Amino acid sequence: MEGSPLFRFYFDNKKYLPGIAVIVGLSLVSGVLKMLAATYSGQAVDYGVSREVDMMLLTAGMMALFILLDCGRTALHYHLIGRITENMMVEVRSKAFSKLTHGDPAILEEKFRSGDMAARLNSDINQLGSFSAGNVSHFSRLIFSGLFGLAACIFMSWQLSLAYVVILPLSLGLVNAISKPIQAQTKKSMDNAGSAMSMVVDLISGALTVKAFGCQDEFEKRFGHMAEHACRLEVQSAKISMKMTGVKYLANALQTMSLFLIGFWLVSTGQLTVGTFIAFVTLSNYITEAFTTSDYMISSVRRVSASAQRYYEIMDVPGEQPGNTRKPASDIPCEARDLAFAYNRGDRVLNGLSLGIPAGKRVAVVGASGCGKSTLVKLLCRFYFPESGSLRLFGIDSASWDPDALRKSLAIVTQDSCLFHGSFYENVAYGRSGDVSREECEAALRDVSLWDFVSAFPDGMDHSIGEGGRDLSGGQKQRLCIARAMVKKAPLVILDEATSALDLQTEREVQKSLDRLLEGRSAIIIAHRLSTVQSADYIYCMDQGKVAEEGPPRRLLAQKGRYYQMCRLQGLVED
Ligand SMILES: Nc1ncnc2c1ncn2[C@@H]1O[C@H](COP(=O)(O)OP(=O)(O)O)[C@@H](O)[C@H]1O
Ligand SMILES: [Mg+2]
Repeated sequence: MEGSPLFRFYFDNKKYLPGIAVIVGLSLVSGVLKMLAATYSGQAVDYGVSREVDMMLLTAGMMALFILLDCGRTALHYHLIGRITENMMVEVRSKAFSKLTHGDPAILEEKFRSGDMAARLNSDINQLGSFSAGNVSHFSRLIFSGLFGLAACIFMSWQLSLAYVVILPLSLGLVNAISKPIQAQTKKSMDNAGSAMSMVVDLISGALTVKAFGCQDEFEKRFGHMAEHACRLEVQSAKISMKMTGVKYLANALQTMSLFLIGFWLVSTGQLTVGTFIAFVTLSNYITEAFTTSDYMISSVRRVSASAQRYYEIMDVPGEQPGNTRKPASDIPCEARDLAFAYNRGDRVLNGLSLGIPAGKRVAVVGASGCGKSTLVKLLCRFYFPESGSLRLFGIDSASWDPDALRKSLAIVTQDSCLFHGSFYENVAYGRSGDVSREECEAALRDVSLWDFVSAFPDGMDHSIGEGGRDLSGGQKQRLCIARAMVKKAPLVILDEATSALDLQTEREVQKSLDRLLEGRSAIIIAHRLSTVQSADYIYCMDQGKVAEEGPPRRLLAQKGRYYQMCRLQGLVED
């Protein structure tokens, strides 16, 4: 059912319902005030015509009073709309954020792989917030003004109301009948014009290639032809939209004229006073407005329902699979035997992988891109579970670990340095939430050779690094991530292509910081560039989801097998 996610949204956020009810109530008040103001304006005119000055002033005063009250109502409305929208958006956004941080990582990864879900979620929440107060207020005001207008019109003159009720659908029908084929044509010609324009843009952006191929003349001819075609279509669609405006104007004029003709006749035969007629015309405008906006109201409800549905796609992500064990049973970080793993319905990515990370040792995993190295990291972080085989982390089966407790023992540095808007200190302290002293932060920044850079800012480590660290170079960003991993003091360090995005010179600098990070810790180092894994105690060469070769680096080099070949390709050994 289309409306159901929206109902569910309001049910989940029911504490805002009283506020929204007040907004709707104020719209009702507005409808009444508008009706009264219009009625009194008509009476004032009638008293004016019959020269009863006192009564004219009284009724005009009443009209002014109702208009002023409606102004006050507007101010109150805006105040409420602002408050509800802001509070609701903050709350809904933080609920969604908490879902994102606590949801099952595997499902979140799958959802976030396709499209820009985060940006969409943001705009969906904005939609929900602004609809709940702003649109509800606008629409309910239109509906109430229309309804009260209609009631008052019928009360004033049933004959004129009858005429109006016949004329309104006729004129709307007329606009619809004439504009439908025009609308279809407009859409077609706008689509055409759009695609012609984008071809023109393509041609312009390809201009250099065209030049390189030496076919400018041909290009010029095509460009001219295209541009002419696009221009013709643009003119055509402009003409069509002019016609549309004309049709609407005509229908409106016909409606007003017919109403006026009937009104004049009723006034001239004494069945209606001039004042009542004026009030009638004012009120009938409210009815027309409600009618003509109904399309927009319906489409807004549809749009916001779709937003609610997408919002619940996130909110319905189940939480992480829980586990009870919070303490390690051994200091061996990882023992994996015969691991098999496939992502949802896909091919096997890990296929009988066995490896171990002994305590205090550095283990490297190398292998072609796509062989499953990062997938192994995701299993180590307990984002996913093996389909078969056994994965023991610190002596405990990965599924038995409490996810947060396990991750306290891991420090990870990946290829894309993940930094947040905030100060140097905050970015380092994320490593161990809350209890990183400033001395520790300074020590870590010194260890990664960033301290000179940081302390040069007047506000030192409180200096903001800009969104995603945009004020830092690639090497600085990566060193900041390493400092964060350092303060975490986790027994197992995971480096997944930590230096792959850096140039050789920067990599050498960052490598020094990494060596400090690894001092006295167990580590799994995943790297494509083999220069960075030569300090490892043991190397696993992976191929198609399993270990194809393993051993200490010297032995592997002497064996002249797979690892040797890889080193040779990278120019690290001579034949
Ligand atoms: N979330 C995912 N869903 C489905 N397939 C994935 C996902 N992540 C990686 N893969 C696929 O798994 C294979 C191994 O990927 P990955 O472990 O990232 O390789 P590596 O790190 O060795 O380059 C690739 O074929 C990749 O396309
Ligand atoms: Mg990878």
